[in-house]
Amino acid sequence: MVVKIAVLASGRGSNLQTIINSIENGYVKNAEINVVISNKRDAYALERGRNHGISTVFLDPSRCDNAKYDLKILVVLKQYEIDLLLLAGYFQLLGPEIIEAYRNRILNIHPSLLPSFKGLHAQKQAFEYGVKITGCTIHFVDEGLDSGPIILQSCVPVLQGDTEETLTARILEQEHIIYPEAVKLFVEGKLKIEGRTVGFG
Ligand code: GAR
Repeated sequence: MVVKIAVLASGRGSNLQTIINSIENGYVKNAEINVVISNKRDAYALERGRNHGISTVFLDPSRCDNAKYDLKILVVLKQYEIDLLLLAGYFQLLGPEIIEAYRNRILNIHPSLLPSFKGLHAQKQAFEYGVKITGCTIHFVDEGLDSGPIILQSCVPVLQGDTEETLTARILEQEHIIYPEAVKLFVEGKLKIEGRTVGFG
């Protein structure tokens, strides 16, 4: 069986690109990205999708409230018979309808070691806090902010002389490693959720 994937992205889409690559080069098997959806008309993620022959959809958030917007997303997900929804730099909270419809089938990437530094500008938050180790997290999406069960994490040391930019770049390198890995584990049916803990079957 092929797992049908939709990716929600608001920006440049480098994580989307690594997932596209990991499917195209056979690292992730039995999966295809059927649609890339964005809330930003000019998101480069949409162009990345088109470059690989993937359908892209811009859904304009300015014309409806959050609940109606989520219903629009759901319509697209149903239209493409999506099994797995990936958030890749998607800067809008998902509402309860989508989370319920896709319970334990939505993954997100966050650029910190959760539960530290939730929300926006996680790398800046970590840098300014002065932590010595930060990183990135792939987690299931639940109703809270960056609060769902954690699938994979990767540590990134904060080095002397780092700036927010150099730290952000090293975190992104790790994001590009663990997101395809998490997608592969999901597609292979290896993720077992027990309470907050995700085991590998
Ligand atoms: C990534 O660093 C991702 O972790 C972050 O946005 C960036 C998107 O980059 N996501 C969040 O902060 C979500 N809370 P990309 O568009 O190049 O994949």
